[in-house]
Amino acid sequence: MSQFALTRTLPQDATAAALREDVTEGLTRWPKQLPPKWFYDARGSELFEEITRLPEYYPTRAERQILRDRAPEIAAAVPARTLVELGSGSSDKTRHLIAALPSLETYVPVDVSESALTGAAKALLAEHPGLSVHAVVADFEHGPALPPVPGPRLLAFLGGTIGNLLPAERAAFLGGLRAGLGDGDALLLGTDLVKDPATLVAAYDDASGVTAAFNKNVLAVINRELGADFDPAGYDHVAVWDAEREWIEMRLRSRGPAVVKIPSLDLAVHFERGEELRTEVSAKFRQEGVRRELAAAGLTLRHWWTDDEGRFALSLSVPAQG
Ligand code: SAH
Ligand code: AVI
Repeated sequence: MSQFALTRTLPQDATAAALREDVTEGLTRWPKQLPPKWFYDARGSELFEEITRLPEYYPTRAERQILRDRAPEIAAAVPARTLVELGSGSSDKTRHLIAALPSLETYVPVDVSESALTGAAKALLAEHPGLSVHAVVADFEHGPALPPVPGPRLLAFLGGTIGNLLPAERAAFLGGLRAGLGDGDALLLGTDLVKDPATLVAAYDDASGVTAAFNKNVLAVINRELGADFDPAGYDHVAVWDAEREWIEMRLRSRGPAVVKIPSLDLAVHFERGEELRTEVSAKFRQEGVRRELAAAGLTLRHWWTDDEGRFALSLSVPAQG
């Protein structure tokens, strides 16, 4: 019989406090910046799903192909009883993995978006009546308290979301993941790969403007949650490739001089004409870099799979011995 549980590891006011802190810190510094996790209210999660279906946004299709083709190999390498997935969103691609793991008992999706978690659980339980789904609303960067789950455990972090963390954040994050893995457990990590800049920029600046709407959604979140008066029409969506750091940056560029009032923070934020607010970094990787970052965190890369066109990679790593 299927079972569903949902745990909120953070009280509502802790999320509100984190938003207040990030907005205060990020909008009073220069250059202005915000962490990407605030995109994902219910509307932001919907917009992200729309992005995954855009012709320009190849990462989801590429990763789905790898998961579909390699799920039996992954299952043979890690006969998991528990699958924990961080930043699981709709869990759509994860279905290939769940279907291939014969000994799987429990799926633990972890996400900041409660609407994404409940939607995903509903779809999965209809498909897998024998599965237990224990959803956790949490910030994966703050070592979420996971339910006690039996091993072997497969920890999945898909979609290339690791690229949304800055290098120092990635190192701390991977170290934390390693600390939670025991013998027999493994990490399945999705990483988008470095490729020609035109393909990359198009993936983050699509012709139909869905990514622009996703980017501006963070302003709607701040308006609603903090009573700010951002005018989303006053900002242009910008996606640029930083060739040195090998990442895409999404920014919002102020069309004119503006003063945004955020009464709940007792803050007035000044924008100059053309001033940019960085809303997301999306790093792209090479195999050697991924291997190095995993090794620095105490993980040994065991498998590296890419899609047919070599656009995206899925790696399987295990705790290093000794
Ligand atoms: N893994 C899915 C979704 C990727 S979108 C896929 O590959 O399609 C990124 C997901 O991570 C969103 O669902 C978002 O809500 C979640 N997310 C972003 N930052 C997070 C954080 N700090 N903690 C937990 N979830 C986060
Ligand atoms: C979730 N994450 C991996 C996406 C990415 O590609 O960096 C978020 C996104 N931003 C713009 N489009 C999609």
